[in-house]
Amino acid sequence: MKTRMLRNLEVSAIGYGCMGFNHGYGAGPDKNDAIQLIRQSFDLGCTFYDTAEGYGMGSNEELVGEALKPFREKTVLATKFFLNSFEGGKQLNSNIRQHLEHSLKRLQTDYVDLYYLHRVNKDIPIEDVALCMGEFIREGKMREWRQARYTEEEIRLGQTSTPRSAIRSEYANRERMFEKDVIPACAALGIGFVPFSPLASGFLSGKAKAAQEHQGDDVRRVISRFDTENVQANQPLIDFLTDFATSKGATPAQISLAWMLHKENFIVPIPGMRRIERLKENLGAAIITLSKEEYDSLEKGLSTIAIHGNRTDEAIARLHELA
Ligand SMILES: NC(=O)c1ccc[n+]([C@@H]2O[C@H](COP(=O)([O-])OP(=O)(O)OC[C@H]3O[C@@H](n4cnc5c(N)ncnc54)[C@H](OP(=O)(O)O)[C@@H]3O)[C@@H](O)[C@H]2O)c1
Repeated sequence: MKTRMLRNLEVSAIGYGCMGFNHGYGAGPDKNDAIQLIRQSFDLGCTFYDTAEGYGMGSNEELVGEALKPFREKTVLATKFFLNSFEGGKQLNSNIRQHLEHSLKRLQTDYVDLYYLHRVNKDIPIEDVALCMGEFIREGKMREWRQARYTEEEIRLGQTSTPRSAIRSEYANRERMFEKDVIPACAALGIGFVPFSPLASGFLSGKAKAAQEHQGDDVRRVISRFDTENVQANQPLIDFLTDFATSKGATPAQISLAWMLHKENFIVPIPGMRRIERLKENLGAAIITLSKEEYDSLEKGLSTIAIHGNRTDEAIARLHELA
């Protein structure tokens, strides 16, 4: 497996987004099978794992912690916390400390490699959060901190007191808004960029099923890219990726990952996978190379295809309205 640097941390070129085992994609494999799969990913060369306190109300951290326990120190483990507005002010430091201590306990470890602020809270200055993070880094409870879903301006704020190692946001060849300023800001500041949902929730594999075929807490029930008409309207994108992939002896999912790996050497996608064949397929994208001509023709083709539907927090908030 090839590796990349997220500032000072060396990680496998493709990481493992573990959320789907407990959150956001309906029922998954049972706990023992999930642990087995995560351990198989390590055997296949993956060393970068992503979870959050909010996934399955802590159960995803427990799962990942148990799976990684035999080789924890050989991995780069990322988790996230969310701050409510009432947690700011004088108590900010002790509130973040409490989130961190709970995560460490569930993860069965005494440090996390990367600790993310999961969402922007406009009521809590990012500079104050950065100062707290610096203290926890000095205490050895975390190695680096990062932010999720930030604007270029927010990335620059707080970078002087405690520099971040990475920014994490949705990014795929059909969700490209961060190419304008966030990714260039990461390049300028030496920060890694970790795309989540790099396969657009599986859509880019070409095997997507429409919204009504999903159950439970599955976000594909409500995000508009899985509306029946949008699945049909986006077929030209899948056809294009499939043709390109066939010419390379690869799959559309692999080409979608290889495309972003080719863009910048500080981009490290974290696809979500709950089956061994998908694990092998996606990790296999790390060895696909694109010549300049191939990359240019991929970009040219992608630029001419209209994209229908997206994935928003507002749409996901509607999930609870569905019984
Ligand atoms: N901060 C945030 O707001 C946020 C939001 C979303 C995600 N994330 C993070 O990002 C990680 C990845 O996000 P994601 O799970 O949405 O990523 P994704 O890889 O874009 O989508 C995962 C979905 O695609 C399917 N899939 C993956 N590879 C496939 C392949 N080769 N062929 C066919 N289907 C395939 C998976 O199916 P199976 O599960 O059935 O294998 C799963 O349903 C999460 O685990 C989480 O850590 C963060």
